[in-house]
Amino acid sequence: MLSKIAKIQLVSSHPEVYEPCDDSFALVDALLADRTNLLQHRPSICMEIGCGSGYVITSLAVMLGLEGFIPYYLATDINPHAIRVTRETMDAHGVYAELVNTDIASGLEKRLGGSVDVMVVNPPYVPTPEDEVGCEGIASAWAGGENGRSVIDKILPVADNLLSERGWLYMVTLTANNPSEICLEMRKKGYASRVILQRSTEEESLHIIKFWRDSDSQLELKNLSYWTKLIEGKFISWMW
Ligand SMILES: C[S@@+](CC[C@H](N)C(=O)[O-])C[C@H]1O[C@@H](n2cnc3c(N)ncnc32)[C@H](O)[C@@H]1O
Repeated sequence: MLSKIAKIQLVSSHPEVYEPCDDSFALVDALLADRTNLLQHRPSICMEIGCGSGYVITSLAVMLGLEGFIPYYLATDINPHAIRVTRETMDAHGVYAELVNTDIASGLEKRLGGSVDVMVVNPPYVPTPEDEVGCEGIASAWAGGENGRSVIDKILPVADNLLSERGWLYMVTLTANNPSEICLEMRKKGYASRVILQRSTEEESLHIIKFWRDSDSQLELKNLSYWTKLIEGKFISWMW
């Protein structure tokens, strides 16, 4: 039977590259669960920020490609080994993406601004000391600084800049990242959001959040699809 996602035994590896883990599997499961919508959406450009082993972008290419649908794929990673490993993973599955070794999407904004229809991100989200963020080696795959938000908070405005009018963003977050606050940040930029998959492991509670532009969002911050409370001087919000 044809696999709808990347085959784990065909995913390449390197000691300095993040191996597919619970978070990667959760993101791919969320994309698979949303596959019918993705196919109807017919994205022209799909992009991953922080591709690591290539498991996620390859899975996306495989699941859409099975229906004969081939958007343009692009993926970035700050780790040059990840670029090589992702190329091997994609080649092993017979799919293609333009791969760029860069910080988030640095150097691509002009070319891609307003044109990415689907973006997927499994960012470094683990709360760590700030000086571990972006350091050499495998730790940069998970080191997220205070509340695990350092890299996430840099990705959000870039995503806003790159996404097309009909763009969708799928992002992995951890409870410690305060996902409700991330949703509120994105709402201020005009995005609606929904948790499309939640998974708890022994170590962490993961949320895969889907964001999409919603013209009413900026105007309707009091929308009833989410609730907001002012607790101890901080906005704590969540939408259901
Ligand atoms: C949690 S891993 C996820 C890897 C892969 N997407 C997956 O789900 O298995 C995060 C990835 O983001 C990359 N990364 C970290 N900081 C980055 C940055 N500033 N710009 C681009 N990629 C970054 C890391 O090198 C790593 O490959």
